[in-house]
Amino acid sequence: MAEEAILAYLEKNEQISDSGNFAAELGLDHNDVVNVIKSLHGFRYVDAQDIKRETWVLTDEGRKYAAEGSPEVQLFLAVPPEGSIPKDELQKKLAPAVFKIGCSQAGKNRWVEMGKQISRKVQHVEDKVKDLLLWVQDGHAIEKDDINSLKARKLIVQQTWKGYSVSKGPNYAPKRKKVATDLTRENLQRGDWKELEFKEYNFNAKGQPAEGGHLHPLLKVRKQLKDIFLQMGFEEMPTNNFVESSFWNFDVLFQPQQHPARDSHDTFFLEEPSTTRKLPEDYVELVKRVHESGGYGSRGYGYDWKREEADKNLLRTHTTAVSSRMLKALAEKPFAPKKYFSIDRVFRNEAVDRTHLAEFHQIEGLVCDRGLTLGDLIGVLHDFFARLGMSKLRFKPAYNPYTEPSMEIFSYHEGLGKWVEIGNSGMFRPEMLLPMGFPEDVRVIAWGLSLERPTMILYGIDNIRDLFGHKVDLGLIKRNPICRLGMD
Ligand code: PHE
Repeated sequence: MAEEAILAYLEKNEQISDSGNFAAELGLDHNDVVNVIKSLHGFRYVDAQDIKRETWVLTDEGRKYAAEGSPEVQLFLAVPPEGSIPKDELQKKLAPAVFKIGCSQAGKNRWVEMGKQISRKVQHVEDKVKDLLLWVQDGHAIEKDDINSLKARKLIVQQTWKGYSVSKGPNYAPKRKKVATDLTRENLQRGDWKELEFKEYNFNAKGQPAEGGHLHPLLKVRKQLKDIFLQMGFEEMPTNNFVESSFWNFDVLFQPQQHPARDSHDTFFLEEPSTTRKLPEDYVELVKRVHESGGYGSRGYGYDWKREEADKNLLRTHTTAVSSRMLKALAEKPFAPKKYFSIDRVFRNEAVDRTHLAEFHQIEGLVCDRGLTLGDLIGVLHDFFARLGMSKLRFKPAYNPYTEPSMEIFSYHEGLGKWVEIGNSGMFRPEMLLPMGFPEDVRVIAWGLSLERPTMILYGIDNIRDLFGHKVDLGLIKRNPICRLGMD
């Protein structure tokens, strides 16, 4: 409708000088006219020039007075024509704002005598404010002085009106031609592509938003953690073996064979193949001996160590199994200090709930060097967690079969206003390091934490099943921001 009107008008006339007037004359909505002009301009049917006009519109208060009368007139009318009215009685008759503004304006206009008693000083008043407001509301211009006084009383505000003047463009036609947007097989077969007019290619169009390839929050946090480790000079350990033998997962770590973690209630054992094919025999002998009778200053556990237990295959319960293998390989070479890390999946036969899954990810870091102390461990942990935005740490003595001393790590969570446990750490026992073949003064400090815990804190997720597993909330995966580290 608007489009036909514009094109038809331009067929007979040079230009539409003002889209606002044009719309008003034809009874069209100006917004519709503007949209059509923009579209016709895009295809160069018309040329369009911006026009701007400053206009005045009523504020909410202005609209109220245009309908109900100005406060000063409302107040004047509430004063009896003869005699007077006590001020507090008059106050009760009017809205508080109307009374307050009415008093000051009617006083200034010398319409009423103000005092404890209020009386009229003139016979009649005219509501000039209301008349001016109605005039502005209808789109008429008013005198500069009047504008200033209504503006000062915040009854009108300025608004910029935008429209166009329009003339014929280089592609002008009285009717819009249908342009083809696609060249189809049918066009080619029929040969009508020769006559078709194609829509110009828009190289500035943004295109469809890319839908695939959203990174999971765990992957994003993992990448950021990996960068932190690399910046701190750590090397990544190969963690691509989910299946591990009990030997590397438990025995090497001086974890006794009766330990409850080695029960099938806590660990997934493999049925097929149920046992490992190969273990380093000489080393197995040393591990067996340290479990049974100790050595290297230890009394051992004093039980019958069974090879069948060590042979059992399982899904690794911690990435410390990988650390065992890496440390053993390191101990076989001439000693050189090392910093290792890993971030990968581990498995525990646990009841699934809001905060636990049967598989999750562990982050693990270790430093191996001569003469390291607990102070070094505390220092490295402060450095590491500060890079995660956690600068307030506390440590609590703990127990792990493979570390002595051991410490649980707590961080102060500003959001929750409390200390939350974020990881576990310690110094690997001589019972573990010496049978591997490390020199006596070599110490290994290490720590581990789950990847899920910091990710849930950083992304504000309170149910782990929304994050990982078959019930994962895909919308959440797509929407979440790329970087969340560095905040508490
Ligand atoms: N393996 C420990 C766990 O599963 C973490 C840890 C790693 C503790 C290294 C001490 C040293 O919780």
